[in-house]
Amino acid sequence: MDFMDAVAARRTVYALNKELPVAQQKVTDMVKRATELVPDAFNMRSQRVVIVQGAQQDALWDAVYDAFDGKVAREKIDGFKAGAGTVLYFIDTATVKGLQDQFPTYAANFPVWAQQSNGMLQFTVWTGLRELGVGANLQHYNPVIDDVVRALTGVPESYQLVAQMVYGGIVEDAGEKPGENISDRVTVIG
Ligand SMILES: Cc1cc2nc3c(=O)[nH]c(=O)nc-3n(C[C@H](O)[C@H](O)[C@H](O)COP(=O)(O)O)c2cc1C
Repeated sequence: MDFMDAVAARRTVYALNKELPVAQQKVTDMVKRATELVPDAFNMRSQRVVIVQGAQQDALWDAVYDAFDGKVAREKIDGFKAGAGTVLYFIDTATVKGLQDQFPTYAANFPVWAQQSNGMLQFTVWTGLRELGVGANLQHYNPVIDDVVRALTGVPESYQLVAQMVYGGIVEDAGEKPGENISDRVTVIG
């Protein structure tokens, strides 16, 4: 797929199932490659990713439901549970702190840059999934689910959960993107 075609094809897809059009290994390989290639400030490599799939996918979303104590509708959580897997995005705060200690002048910037790089990684994976014919949506149940995610995945204390990307077979695609006059937001000078 041409790069901008892939960018255009990436959409928020909520209606997902567990039937991936490709082997899970292809998804895993793509996520690893994206994590390797996406840039980070000072090349600090602050991004961490856990792919939750198979029976653990169901366990994750049941744990999210329990963490909210009934405050999030069962049907909503079941929509995410219906997906084949979830990519959990983290920032390793220990890595960020290491850079802050090393370069005090930029100390305030490193956590911001780590978030920016995490967003770049999320976008790359989201688009890469779509290129594989896999649908996805992006959720933010952190920080309420931080402890249950830590218990389920065993990630270290230094890992800060940033986002949860549910992926799966596409049951129903997103509608047309609403139109806009893009010149309202993009200006060319000179
Ligand atoms: C940083 C960011 C945070 C988002 N958080 C959520 C979220 O918590 N829950 C959700 O359902 N969608 C979330 N979305 C999806 C957006 O609502 C969606 O991308 C936007 O409406 C554009 O639609 P599209 O993805 O189909 O192009 C998020 C998107 C971004 C980029």
